[in-house]
Amino acid sequence: MSIFKLDINHWLDMDKWYLRYMEDKANVLSKYGREYCDWIPGESDDACQELLDMVVDHLTKRYPSLFRRTAIGVDNLVTGESMDLRTPLAEHPLHLLARLAKEDFYIVKQRADGQHYLVAACVPGPGGFFGVREKMGKPLDAIHTEVPYYFEKLKVSMERWFARMKPNDPVERASWFICWDHELLCNGIYALGPGERVPADTSYLKYNVRVCRQTLRRLPQSQAIIFSNHPIFYSIEEMKDEPFVPSMLKKVVLEGPEKILKYKGFEKFDDHLIPYLDRLIQRQIDMGIIKADDPLKTRPAYPFADWYDPAEKHTGRGYTNPIFLREGATAPQP
Ligand code: HEM
Repeated sequence: MSIFKLDINHWLDMDKWYLRYMEDKANVLSKYGREYCDWIPGESDDACQELLDMVVDHLTKRYPSLFRRTAIGVDNLVTGESMDLRTPLAEHPLHLLARLAKEDFYIVKQRADGQHYLVAACVPGPGGFFGVREKMGKPLDAIHTEVPYYFEKLKVSMERWFARMKPNDPVERASWFICWDHELLCNGIYALGPGERVPADTSYLKYNVRVCRQTLRRLPQSQAIIFSNHPIFYSIEEMKDEPFVPSMLKKVVLEGPEKILKYKGFEKFDDHLIPYLDRLIQRQIDMGIIKADDPLKTRPAYPFADWYDPAEKHTGRGYTNPIFLREGATAPQP
Protein backbone atom coordinates (compact mmCIF):
# COMPACT_ATOMS: atom_id res chain seq x y z
CA MET A 1 0.00 0.00 0.00
CA SER A 2 3.10 2.24 0.08
CA ILE A 3 2.68 3.57 3.59
CA PHE A 4 5.49 4.30 6.04
CA LYS A 5 5.69 4.56 9.80
CA LEU A 6 5.23 8.21 10.80
CA ASP A 7 7.69 9.86 13.16
CA ILE A 8 5.15 11.69 15.28
CA ASN A 9 7.47 14.70 15.55
CA HIS A 10 6.61 15.31 11.92
CA TRP A 11 2.86 14.89 12.12
CA LEU A 12 2.32 18.63 11.65
CA ASP A 13 5.47 20.16 10.26
CA MET A 14 6.13 23.88 10.38
CA ASP A 15 7.85 25.59 7.46
CA LYS A 16 8.60 29.04 6.13
CA TRP A 17 5.35 29.05 4.13
CA TYR A 18 3.12 28.61 7.18
CA LEU A 19 1.68 32.13 7.09
CA ARG A 20 1.03 31.96 3.38
CA TYR A 21 -0.86 28.69 3.80
CA MET A 22 -2.90 30.06 6.68
CA GLU A 23 -3.90 33.11 4.64
CA ASP A 24 -4.89 30.96 1.67
CA LYS A 25 -6.94 28.66 3.88
CA ALA A 26 -8.76 31.59 5.45
CA ASN A 27 -9.57 33.01 2.01
CA VAL A 28 -10.94 29.72 0.70
CA LEU A 29 -13.06 29.15 3.78
CA SER A 30 -14.51 32.64 3.81
CA LYS A 31 -15.32 32.45 0.10
CA TYR A 32 -16.66 28.89 -0.16
CA GLY A 33 -17.73 28.06 3.40
CA ARG A 34 -19.02 24.55 3.88
CA GLU A 35 -18.13 23.47 0.37
CA TYR A 36 -14.59 22.84 1.68
CA CYS A 37 -15.27 22.54 5.40
CA ASP A 38 -18.23 20.43 6.41
CA TRP A 39 -19.31 17.95 9.07
CA ILE A 40 -22.17 15.69 10.10
CA PRO A 41 -23.56 17.15 13.33
CA GLY A 42 -23.85 14.62 16.13
CA GLU A 43 -21.89 11.81 14.53
CA SER A 44 -18.66 13.82 14.17
CA ASP A 45 -18.82 16.01 17.31
CA ASP A 46 -16.64 13.91 19.61
CA ALA A 47 -13.98 13.31 16.96
CA CYS A 48 -13.78 17.00 15.94
CA GLN A 49 -13.31 18.08 19.55
CA GLU A 50 -10.77 15.29 20.17
CA LEU A 51 -8.80 16.25 17.06
CA LEU A 52 -8.72 19.89 18.13
CA ASP A 53 -7.43 18.90 21.59
CA MET A 54 -4.80 16.67 20.01
CA VAL A 55 -3.60 19.35 17.59
CA VAL A 56 -3.33 21.95 20.37
CA ASP A 57 -1.45 19.47 22.53
CA HIS A 58 0.91 18.58 19.69
CA LEU A 59 1.64 22.14 18.57
CA THR A 60 2.23 23.51 22.08
CA LYS A 61 4.59 20.66 22.96
CA ARG A 62 6.37 20.41 19.63
CA TYR A 63 6.70 24.13 18.93
CA PRO A 64 6.57 25.85 22.33
CA SER A 65 8.00 29.06 20.97
CA LEU A 66 5.24 29.27 18.35
CA PHE A 67 2.17 28.02 20.22
CA ARG A 68 1.54 28.63 23.92
CA ARG A 69 -1.19 27.35 26.19
CA THR A 70 -3.09 29.98 28.13
CA ALA A 71 -5.60 29.78 30.98
CA ILE A 72 -8.46 29.78 28.46
CA GLY A 73 -6.96 28.22 25.37
CA VAL A 74 -3.97 28.73 23.15
CA ASP A 75 -1.97 31.58 21.63
CA ASN A 76 -0.81 31.22 18.07
CA LEU A 77 2.31 33.36 18.27
CA VAL A 78 2.88 33.17 14.52
CA THR A 79 -0.44 34.68 13.48
CA GLY A 80 -0.89 36.61 16.74
CA GLU A 81 -4.30 35.08 17.48
CA SER A 82 -5.39 34.21 21.04
CA MET A 83 -7.92 31.42 20.90
CA ASP A 84 -10.57 30.78 23.52
CA LEU A 85 -10.99 27.01 23.73
CA ARG A 86 -13.41 26.87 26.64
CA THR A 87 -16.41 24.67 25.94
CA PRO A 88 -18.97 25.14 24.57
CA LEU A 89 -16.72 26.47 21.83
CA ALA A 90 -17.74 29.71 20.18
CA GLU A 91 -16.91 28.21 16.77
CA HIS A 92 -16.85 24.78 15.21
CA PRO A 93 -13.58 22.93 16.06
CA LEU A 94 -12.75 22.57 12.35
CA HIS A 95 -12.67 26.35 11.97
CA LEU A 96 -10.31 26.66 14.92
CA LEU A 97 -8.14 23.88 13.52
CA ALA A 98 -7.91 25.73 10.22
CA ARG A 99 -6.30 28.65 12.06
CA LEU A 100 -3.80 26.48 13.91
CA ALA A 101 -2.48 23.81 11.55
CA LYS A 102 -1.66 24.30 7.89
CA GLU A 103 -2.74 20.71 7.15
CA ASP A 104 -6.13 19.75 5.74
CA PHE A 105 -8.03 17.16 7.77
CA TYR A 106 -10.49 14.42 6.90
CA ILE A 107 -12.26 12.56 9.72
CA VAL A 108 -13.53 9.08 9.01
CA LYS A 109 -15.64 6.81 11.23
CA GLN A 110 -16.62 3.20 10.97
CA ARG A 111 -20.36 2.53 10.95
CA ALA A 112 -22.28 -0.61 11.90
CA ASP A 113 -21.94 -2.00 8.36
CA GLY A 114 -18.14 -2.12 8.86
CA GLN A 115 -17.42 0.54 6.22
CA HIS A 116 -15.55 3.79 6.92
CA TYR A 117 -17.47 7.00 6.23
CA LEU A 118 -16.36 10.60 5.88
CA VAL A 119 -18.04 12.42 8.79
CA ALA A 120 -16.11 15.72 8.83
CA ALA A 121 -13.48 17.44 6.73
CA CYS A 122 -11.74 20.76 6.45
CA VAL A 123 -9.93 20.73 3.11
CA PRO A 124 -9.24 24.18 1.68
CA GLY A 125 -6.23 22.88 -0.27
CA PRO A 126 -7.27 19.76 -2.18
CA GLY A 127 -5.42 20.90 -5.31
CA GLY A 128 -7.88 19.36 -7.71
CA PHE A 129 -11.54 18.60 -8.24
CA PHE A 130 -12.21 17.23 -4.80
CA GLY A 131 -14.92 19.19 -2.99
CA VAL A 132 -15.93 18.09 0.46
CA ARG A 133 -19.68 18.56 0.33
CA GLU A 134 -20.53 15.94 -2.25
CA LYS A 135 -18.40 13.35 -0.43
CA MET A 136 -19.70 14.01 3.08
CA GLY A 137 -21.35 10.96 4.63
CA LYS A 138 -20.00 8.74 1.85
CA PRO A 139 -17.84 5.64 2.38
CA LEU A 140 -14.16 5.54 1.39
CA ASP A 141 -15.13 3.57 -1.71
CA ALA A 142 -17.09 6.57 -2.96
CA ILE A 143 -14.19 8.91 -2.18
CA HIS A 144 -11.82 6.73 -4.17
CA THR A 145 -14.16 5.97 -7.08
CA GLU A 146 -12.02 7.95 -9.52
CA VAL A 147 -8.73 6.54 -8.21
CA PRO A 148 -7.22 4.15 -10.77
CA TYR A 149 -7.03 0.49 -9.72
CA TYR A 150 -8.61 1.29 -6.32
CA PHE A 151 -11.18 -1.51 -6.47
CA GLU A 152 -8.75 -4.03 -8.00
CA LYS A 153 -5.65 -3.30 -5.92
CA LEU A 154 -6.23 -1.06 -2.92
CA LYS A 155 -9.63 -1.52 -1.35
CA VAL A 156 -9.16 -4.88 0.36
CA SER A 157 -5.72 -4.19 1.85
CA MET A 158 -6.84 -0.74 2.97
CA GLU A 159 -9.85 -2.13 4.83
CA ARG A 160 -7.77 -4.89 6.39
CA TRP A 161 -5.23 -2.36 7.55
CA PHE A 162 -7.86 0.01 8.97
CA ALA A 163 -9.28 -2.86 11.02
CA ARG A 164 -5.88 -3.38 12.68
CA MET A 165 -4.80 0.25 12.97
CA LYS A 166 -3.98 1.35 16.56
CA PRO A 167 -3.79 4.92 17.94
CA ASN A 168 -0.05 4.60 18.45
CA ASP A 169 0.59 3.34 14.91
CA PRO A 170 0.52 6.51 12.79
CA VAL A 171 1.66 6.26 9.17
CA GLU A 172 2.38 8.54 6.28
CA ARG A 173 2.16 8.32 2.52
CA ALA A 174 2.48 10.70 -0.37
CA SER A 175 0.65 11.37 -3.55
CA TRP A 176 2.03 13.57 -6.30
CA PHE A 177 1.29 15.27 -9.56
CA ILE A 178 2.89 17.88 -11.79
CA CYS A 179 1.66 21.45 -12.01
CA TRP A 180 2.92 24.88 -13.05
CA ASP A 181 1.58 27.06 -10.23
CA HIS A 182 1.25 27.06 -6.44
CA GLU A 183 -2.53 27.26 -6.15
CA LEU A 184 -3.81 25.37 -3.14
CA LEU A 185 -7.47 25.05 -3.99
CA CYS A 186 -7.14 24.09 -7.64
CA ASN A 187 -3.90 23.82 -9.57
CA GLY A 188 -3.97 25.09 -13.16
CA ILE A 189 -3.83 21.58 -14.50
CA TYR A 190 -7.22 20.78 -12.98
CA ALA A 191 -8.67 24.08 -14.14
CA LEU A 192 -8.15 23.07 -17.78
CA GLY A 193 -11.22 21.78 -19.57
CA PRO A 194 -11.36 18.53 -21.55
CA GLY A 195 -8.87 18.57 -24.42
CA GLU A 196 -7.18 21.78 -23.21
CA ARG A 197 -3.42 21.78 -22.79
CA VAL A 198 -0.86 23.77 -20.85
CA PRO A 199 -0.57 27.32 -22.28
CA ALA A 200 2.28 27.18 -24.82
CA ASP A 201 4.09 30.15 -23.27
CA THR A 202 4.32 28.53 -19.82
CA SER A 203 7.87 28.86 -18.56
CA TYR A 204 9.64 25.60 -17.76
CA LEU A 205 10.82 27.25 -14.58
CA LYS A 206 7.27 27.16 -13.29
CA TYR A 207 6.94 23.38 -13.30
CA ASN A 208 6.57 21.80 -9.86
CA VAL A 209 6.08 18.37 -8.51
CA ARG A 210 3.26 18.84 -6.04
CA VAL A 211 3.77 16.24 -3.33
CA CYS A 212 0.72 15.83 -1.11
CA ARG A 213 2.11 14.64 2.19
CA GLN A 214 -0.54 12.58 3.95
CA THR A 215 -0.69 11.06 7.41
CA LEU A 216 -3.12 8.65 9.01
CA ARG A 217 -3.69 8.17 12.72
CA ARG A 218 -6.48 6.89 14.91
CA LEU A 219 -7.93 8.97 17.74
CA PRO A 220 -7.89 6.97 20.99
CA GLN A 221 -11.28 8.07 22.39
CA SER A 222 -13.63 8.40 19.44
CA GLN A 223 -11.70 5.79 17.41
CA ALA A 224 -12.11 8.02 14.35
CA ILE A 225 -9.34 7.92 11.73
CA ILE A 226 -7.70 11.21 10.89
CA PHE A 227 -6.29 11.68 7.42
CA SER A 228 -4.20 14.83 7.03
CA ASN A 229 -2.99 16.22 3.75
CA HIS A 230 -0.59 19.00 2.96
CA PRO A 231 1.03 20.01 -0.34
CA ILE A 232 4.75 20.61 -0.72
CA PHE A 233 5.90 22.09 -4.01
CA TYR A 234 9.26 20.96 -5.41
CA SER A 235 10.39 23.01 -8.37
CA ILE A 236 11.74 20.77 -11.13
CA GLU A 237 14.32 23.43 -11.92
CA GLU A 238 15.59 23.29 -8.34
CA MET A 239 15.76 19.49 -8.46
CA LYS A 240 17.61 19.44 -11.77
CA ASP A 241 20.90 18.21 -10.27
CA GLU A 242 19.29 15.46 -8.19
CA PRO A 243 20.58 12.26 -9.79
CA PHE A 244 17.90 10.59 -11.94
CA VAL A 245 15.08 12.96 -10.99
CA PRO A 246 14.55 14.29 -14.54
CA SER A 247 14.98 10.75 -15.95
CA MET A 248 12.45 9.28 -13.51
CA LEU A 249 9.94 12.03 -14.21
CA LYS A 250 10.26 11.44 -17.94
CA LYS A 251 9.79 7.71 -17.50
CA VAL A 252 6.67 8.09 -15.36
CA VAL A 253 5.13 10.76 -17.58
CA LEU A 254 5.62 8.64 -20.70
CA GLU A 255 5.40 5.09 -19.45
CA GLY A 256 3.17 5.04 -16.35
CA PRO A 257 0.09 2.80 -16.35
CA GLU A 258 -2.46 4.25 -18.76
CA LYS A 259 -5.16 5.04 -16.22
CA ILE A 260 -2.66 6.80 -13.97
CA LEU A 261 -1.40 8.95 -16.84
CA LYS A 262 -4.97 10.06 -17.40
CA TYR A 263 -5.78 10.54 -13.69
CA LYS A 264 -2.73 12.76 -13.22
CA GLY A 265 -3.52 14.71 -16.40
CA PHE A 266 -0.10 14.10 -17.98
CA GLU A 267 -1.53 14.40 -21.50
CA LYS A 268 -2.18 18.09 -20.79
CA PHE A 269 1.51 18.95 -20.72
CA ASP A 270 3.67 15.97 -21.70
CA ASP A 271 4.78 17.30 -25.11
CA HIS A 272 5.67 20.64 -23.49
CA LEU A 273 7.56 19.16 -20.55
CA ILE A 274 9.51 16.33 -22.21
CA PRO A 275 11.94 18.51 -24.23
CA TYR A 276 12.81 20.32 -20.99
CA LEU A 277 13.36 17.03 -19.15
CA ASP A 278 15.52 15.83 -22.06
CA ARG A 279 17.71 18.90 -21.66
CA LEU A 280 18.04 18.30 -17.92
CA ILE A 281 18.93 14.65 -18.49
CA GLN A 282 21.62 15.63 -21.00
CA ARG A 283 22.93 18.20 -18.49
CA GLN A 284 23.27 15.48 -15.83
CA ILE A 285 25.17 13.28 -18.29
CA ASP A 286 27.44 16.17 -19.34
CA MET A 287 28.19 17.01 -15.70
CA GLY A 288 28.89 13.38 -14.80
CA ILE A 289 25.98 13.24 -12.34
CA ILE A 290 24.64 10.20 -14.20
CA LYS A 291 25.94 8.13 -17.07
CA ALA A 292 23.85 7.64 -20.19
CA ASP A 293 23.73 3.88 -19.60
CA ASP A 294 23.14 4.00 -15.81
CA PRO A 295 20.16 1.80 -14.95
CA LEU A 296 17.25 4.01 -13.94
CA LYS A 297 16.58 3.72 -10.23
CA THR A 298 15.32 5.75 -7.30
CA ARG A 299 17.96 6.97 -4.87
CA PRO A 300 18.57 5.02 -1.67
CA ALA A 301 18.79 8.35 0.20
CA TYR A 302 15.39 9.71 1.15
CA PRO A 303 14.03 12.05 0.02
CA PHE A 304 16.96 13.35 -2.00
CA ALA A 305 20.61 12.77 -2.67
CA ASP A 306 23.10 12.20 0.12
CA TRP A 307 26.07 14.00 -1.27
CA TYR A 308 25.95 17.42 0.26
CA ASP A 309 27.94 18.12 3.41
CA PRO A 310 27.09 21.60 4.73
CA ALA A 311 30.34 21.71 6.73
CA GLU A 312 32.20 21.75 3.42
CA LYS A 313 29.83 24.26 1.88
CA HIS A 314 32.36 26.95 1.06
CA THR A 315 35.28 24.73 0.18
CA GLY A 316 33.84 23.20 -2.96
CA ARG A 317 34.45 19.74 -1.41
CA GLY A 318 30.93 19.55 0.02
CA TYR A 319 29.77 17.00 -2.51
CA THR A 320 30.65 13.57 -1.20
CA ASN A 321 28.43 11.37 -3.32
CA PRO A 322 30.54 8.88 -5.30
CA ILE A 323 28.90 10.14 -8.46
CA PHE A 324 30.65 13.47 -7.97
CA LEU A 325 33.91 11.82 -7.09
CA ARG A 326 34.05 10.27 -10.53
CA GLU A 327 36.96 11.58 -12.46
CA GLY A 328 36.01 14.60 -14.49
CA ALA A 329 32.64 15.07 -12.79
CA THR A 330 31.62 18.64 -12.07
CA ALA A 331 29.72 19.29 -8.88
CA PRO A 332 26.98 21.92 -9.13
CA GLN A 333 27.83 25.10 -7.26
CA PRO A 334 26.18 25.58 -3.87
C1 HEM B 1 -9.24 8.14 5.90
C2 HEM B 1 -8.60 7.70 4.90
C3 HEM B 1 -8.52 8.31 3.52
C4 HEM B 1 -9.13 9.40 2.98
C5 HEM B 1 -10.11 10.35 3.64
C6 HEM B 1 -8.65 9.51 1.62
C7 HEM B 1 -9.01 10.51 0.75
C8 HEM B 1 -8.57 10.61 -0.54
C9 HEM B 1 -8.92 11.66 -1.46
C10 HEM B 1 -9.80 12.84 -1.12
C11 HEM B 1 -8.34 11.41 -2.63
C12 HEM B 1 -8.46 12.24 -3.92
C13 HEM B 1 -9.59 11.64 -4.73
C14 HEM B 1 -9.81 12.37 -6.04
O1 HEM B 1 -8.89 12.45 -6.86
O2 HEM B 1 -10.93 12.82 -6.24
C15 HEM B 1 -7.60 10.20 -2.48
C16 HEM B 1 -6.85 9.64 -3.47
C17 HEM B 1 -6.08 8.52 -3.28
N1 HEM B 1 -6.02 7.76 -2.15
FE1 HEM B 1 -6.96 8.09 -0.42
N2 HEM B 1 -7.80 8.49 1.37
C18 HEM B 1 -7.69 7.74 2.50
C19 HEM B 1 -6.91 6.66 2.69
C20 HEM B 1 -6.09 6.15 1.75
C21 HEM B 1 -5.16 5.07 1.96
C22 HEM B 1 -4.93 4.34 3.30
C23 HEM B 1 -4.57 4.82 0.78
C24 HEM B 1 -3.53 3.81 0.43
C25 HEM B 1 -2.49 3.55 1.12
C26 HEM B 1 -5.11 5.75 -0.19
C27 HEM B 1 -4.76 5.80 -1.50
C28 HEM B 1 -5.14 6.75 -2.39
C29 HEM B 1 -4.63 6.85 -3.75
C30 HEM B 1 -3.64 5.92 -4.42
C31 HEM B 1 -5.22 7.96 -4.29
C32 HEM B 1 -5.01 8.51 -5.74
C33 HEM B 1 -4.03 9.65 -5.68
C34 HEM B 1 -2.66 9.14 -5.35
O3 HEM B 1 -1.95 8.72 -6.26
O4 HEM B 1 -2.33 9.13 -4.16
N3 HEM B 1 -6.02 6.52 0.44
N4 HEM B 1 -7.74 9.74 -1.19
